[in-house]
Amino acid sequence: MKTKTHILFSLIFLSSSFFDLSTAVSAAPKSYLLNCGASDAESNDADGRKWSGDLDLKFLLSPENSVLQRAGFQDPSLPSAVPYMTGRIFTKESTYAFPVKAGKRHWLRLHFYPASYGNLNSTDAYFSVVADGVTLLRNFSAAITAQALTLAYIIREFSLIPTSSNLNVTFTPSDEHNASYAFVNGIEVIPVPDIFDTPATLVGFSDQEVDVGSSTIQTMYRLNVGGQFIPATNDSGLSRMWYDDSPYLYGAAFGITYSGASEKAKIQYPEKKMEYVAPFDVYDTARSMGPDSKINMNYNLTWAFQVDGNFMYVVRFHFCELQLAKVNQRVFDIYLNNQTAQDGADVIAWSGSKGVPVYKDYALYVADEPGDEQLWVALHPSAEEKPEFYDAVLNGLEIFKLNDTNGSLAGPNPVPSPMLLAAESLIAGTVNAKWRPGVISRAAGGAAGVGLVFAICIVVYQQKKRIPGEAGNSGWLPLYGGSTSHTTTSKSTISGKSCTSSHLSSLAVSLSRHFSFYEIKQGTKNFDESLVIGVGGFGKVYKGVIDGGTKVAIKRANPSSEQGIHEFQTEIEMLSKLRHRHLVSLIGYCEENDEMILVYDYMAHGTLREHLYKSKEAPLSWKQRLDICIGAARGLHYLHTGAKYTIIHRDVKTTNILVDDKWVAKVSDFGLSKTGPSIDQTHVSTVVKGSFGYLDPEYFRRQQLTDKSDVYSFGVVLFEVLCARPALNPSLPKEQVSLADWALHCQRKGILSDIIDPHIKDQINEQCLKKFAETAEKCLSDHGVDRPAMGDVLWNLEFALQLQENPDADGKMDENGLINRSNTVGNDANSFSSNTNMSTGGASEASDDSDLNTNVVFSQLINPKGR
Ligand SMILES: *[C@@H]1O[C@H](CO)[C@@H](O)[C@H](O)[C@H]1NC(C)=O
Ligand SMILES: *[C@@H]1O[C@H](CO)[C@@H](O)[C@H](O)[C@H]1NC(C)=O
Repeated sequence: MKTKTHILFSLIFLSSSFFDLSTAVSAAPKSYLLNCGASDAESNDADGRKWSGDLDLKFLLSPENSVLQRAGFQDPSLPSAVPYMTGRIFTKESTYAFPVKAGKRHWLRLHFYPASYGNLNSTDAYFSVVADGVTLLRNFSAAITAQALTLAYIIREFSLIPTSSNLNVTFTPSDEHNASYAFVNGIEVIPVPDIFDTPATLVGFSDQEVDVGSSTIQTMYRLNVGGQFIPATNDSGLSRMWYDDSPYLYGAAFGITYSGASEKAKIQYPEKKMEYVAPFDVYDTARSMGPDSKINMNYNLTWAFQVDGNFMYVVRFHFCELQLAKVNQRVFDIYLNNQTAQDGADVIAWSGSKGVPVYKDYALYVADEPGDEQLWVALHPSAEEKPEFYDAVLNGLEIFKLNDTNGSLAGPNPVPSPMLLAAESLIAGTVNAKWRPGVISRAAGGAAGVGLVFAICIVVYQQKKRIPGEAGNSGWLPLYGGSTSHTTTSKSTISGKSCTSSHLSSLAVSLSRHFSFYEIKQGTKNFDESLVIGVGGFGKVYKGVIDGGTKVAIKRANPSSEQGIHEFQTEIEMLSKLRHRHLVSLIGYCEENDEMILVYDYMAHGTLREHLYKSKEAPLSWKQRLDICIGAARGLHYLHTGAKYTIIHRDVKTTNILVDDKWVAKVSDFGLSKTGPSIDQTHVSTVVKGSFGYLDPEYFRRQQLTDKSDVYSFGVVLFEVLCARPALNPSLPKEQVSLADWALHCQRKGILSDIIDPHIKDQINEQCLKKFAETAEKCLSDHGVDRPAMGDVLWNLEFALQLQENPDADGKMDENGLINRSNTVGNDANSFSSNTNMSTGGASEASDDSDLNTNVVFSQLINPKGR
């Protein structure tokens, strides 16, 4: 999507007294948090930050040109009513003038909530914003931007040095549109230490430098590489937020992540200024390429970002060596947009020693060639330097846009995907269009979005203070990379207490085997990095052995991730009660030493995804792929119907479908699962979670979860298997970025065969393809009611398999299986559910492959020590 990228920040309060309003004396630089349009003198947001109202018009130069209005609707995903529910509406050019210290660097953050204000429609607002002579936004539509990014509100962060003692911020309604108006909900002006006072090396011209400090800067991306979301409260007083980098990783190889804390590494800032450059938490986590030199030499660790063309960008790399201490141990090259930015980067050579942070800025011009408005960051081991390890490492990454020579930072409004628009027109009739014109979906429950690689990615950051203990109260990150990665809420609220078994029901405890921490340490060679087979926000997954040789997968919760711990509890509760051939099985758990560890059967063939693309092994045959899809469909069908309550997986994707040594598919990762509606309910209301690219648009819109959300995600999986490409691929032209959109488009145009994986194209017989594609298409129906039940999907896939093996079978089976089968399968499911009673601990084990037989084979209680 032609998403113009924006980093959006939610506000958290400023902890440092340096910036604190209350301690600001007249001489000290002043911070302003202006709750525009608010009549209260002072009000707090969800984080306790104090915003002042602007009723007294202290800063507004021409108050007669504006009115204050309340938003017509409070979107549930707003982090708090302050500052979003009130806005100042400008019908003519109007200027806020903030008294500031000239020559001192400031953040300027603008908050926009595109809602209806009085009788004004949010889609009519088009305007420009100029600050200190630099155009920050031009012909800006907050409604279109929010729609394309599927966000409820937009925050833009700029950094500038005011040239006079008044920082003028001017809002002008655009004259390109009739009846347009301007508005703003919140303005932050905050003095900060100058962290842009060093020039950046111009990529391609190693002898030239770009003076960053003289430009006005817009923050585009800010990532804690290899780590988790860092809330503004943990950001050394500069109130920035740092996001997990995994959604931006490109390709199937995403290296490994690690943290210094576990090795008790001390981060030592070389000078005071560095403390402001990035907080401890950024330097304390990193992503490297992995332990295998051969593999590392064969790939680039790559991130991709959507940016606006015709601008100079500064890419800031944050490094801190946490593992090695000598020069020439880990040396690598850095590429930006296929050009060498740095040859032979050696963190220790730069920093002088282990644990000392260092950053490097590189400037790069991104031209305005259609489809090229991207910024690629790639790392590759430097063979030339013959280092000890062929590896590369990165701790943090920021991307800043600099004003152009015309004094502008403004890019065009993003273009929502055609599919998004189509979906919108569909629901226009069903949703009260008055208060949410033009916006079909948004992040539920939360706060900040990051500017996105693709328009549909968001980060939700839930304000944990507001709903303590509520299951859905933490954020999550969309996943473009692979393993599960859920952003967590603020670390500061996590107690150091160990998870005792009180977190688990006695049933779960009695059904699973308990491992000692010693056994786990033995089995993973003390959590040896070389045994890591998966990484995510929850922690790491290791390959290990128990009982003197049984291979297992060991998932260790990151103790600082409360979300991770919550998901572990969900997973253990779910899995200890469920046994099925097509669900990954839990062997046991360990809760000791503040640790939360789960032990599973080892899946020799890893994830389905790694066999689909960028695989070093031979591609799977069509028949193998079909078998795996059928197995996974069985697992999901069992979840939906096999227990007393429907269990909704909520995170169906190719990385959560594992394959064992006999190529049997197993659904895994129940950390987000919810026990679904009982008979008298039709849905569960919940905070939207899941993975982008797979997320049911209806769930997204209505925040009501049903088993059909899993069906949607599974439809994406089916197309992914057929086309061998990721659910989201930001490097493709915008209409192709989302596989769900693109495959549906091709299917409806009758050109699906153009996008089938060339490895299997010749193997698929025509009827089989037709059945398979129709099934996938039905799964992706916009409305849940139009999607088949998982049992029907399963039946249709089996039918497709029959057609593949015996094309003449067509006539013998009912072509309209989707309709006719649903009753049969539904009945089976009902009788099944009455047989199994989860609440009394009936664990069931499916003995063989035939799905509809799963209902008769179960209740083989597992022996907790029996493995
Ligand atoms: C890594 O990126 C550089 C620059 O784009 C490219 O020249 C090189 O071929 C890439 N290497 C691999 C292994 O993909
Ligand atoms: C941004 O504007 C300033 C002042 O107008 C100018 O000196 C600087 O060169 C501009 N930046 C770029 C990258 O053109």
